Amino acid sequence: LDNGLARTPPMGWNSWNQVKCYDVSEQVVKDAADAIVDSGLREAGYEYVVVDDCWQGGRGADGRLFSDPERFPSGIAALADYVHARGLKFGIYSVPGSLTCANTWDNYPVRGIGSLGYEQVDADAFAAWGVDYLKYDWCQAERDGIERQAAFAEMRDALAATGRPIVYSISEYGETQPWQWGPDIANLWRTTSDIAPNWSAVSSIIERQAELAPHAGPGGWNDPDMLQIGNGSLTPAENRSHFAMWAMLASPLMLGTDLTALDAETREIVANRSVIAIDQDPLGRQAERIRREAGYDVWRKELTGGRYAVALLNTGGASADLRTTFTELGVTGRYRVTDAWTGQVQGQAGGRIGTSVASHDTALYVLTPVGR
Ligand code: DGJ
Repeated sequence: LDNGLARTPPMGWNSWNQVKCYDVSEQVVKDAADAIVDSGLREAGYEYVVVDDCWQGGRGADGRLFSDPERFPSGIAALADYVHARGLKFGIYSVPGSLTCANTWDNYPVRGIGSLGYEQVDADAFAAWGVDYLKYDWCQAERDGIERQAAFAEMRDALAATGRPIVYSISEYGETQPWQWGPDIANLWRTTSDIAPNWSAVSSIIERQAELAPHAGPGGWNDPDMLQIGNGSLTPAENRSHFAMWAMLASPLMLGTDLTALDAETREIVANRSVIAIDQDPLGRQAERIRREAGYDVWRKELTGGRYAVALLNTGGASADLRTTFTELGVTGRYRVTDAWTGQVQGQAGGRIGTSVASHDTALYVLTPVGR
């Protein structure tokens, strides 16, 4: 979307993967904002603090949304102020239908209401509260008989009419190939159903992104969903691959774990400046898969300055020697090859690069042209 925003993929934290509907509250959001600052993640580029579903309390007689009085007693404007005071930006959640997912799934404690019929009222409220990012989710909005693309476009226009810069993230799970129509409507569009904190979910999402590279670029990104790093059954190797591949895919990097309890190893992964720089490269290219074999993938992402990022992803169940060559990568000339995880310069005899990679781990390199 050509609104001047998200020229590189948005980075930040969103409440959903951490607490879903169960424990979301203004305290959880404040703690996340504080932790982003205290842990140095703000300096690493994490910027947007986004409240997902289940913040809503209802609509007043004036039609205005208000927040759940128990979970968000201070109101959303005060929460946005708190986040802004820490040098961060604030995001919120709604849907184009009458009810959010929280209202359509029985087991949630909060009954979320959506923006149907109140699109401009809500956009104006968000702008007045200081919202910088809107996640607009679909859920079961089709039950309201509305047309999907028109509904997403309507909120785009309502946000534009507020005059406030608001990143616009839409989520319809890739159901109607949103990469085809999303670039005119939103800054990012989900490409799959929800991520879960296990390797089978993460690897199947990676698989789905392979054909989507042509549709990503500054202002409009494929969104393979928010990060589960630090959650569930993901091992350190799987967390590294999750992060490396999201960076290769020029994906939004929205953390979804408890940042107040981040262990050193996980922090090191999500704060790695070289990996973040691959994601945030201003050229805005999404990696293409150069090779897919039983047990491993080779991905290549074009970067600014004639550089490339290369990922060797071990999809197999055991450690393996993974290799590629400059020829296979389609790059000519001389390059310095740097390991993005460690910063170490690698050998590259005869244009061959690679190493032993543990099961589900990823070797990640940056190729920088030399001698030109
Ligand atoms: C479905 C989305 O895919 C999730 O990311 C989350 O926003 C939930 N809805 C909220 O109900």
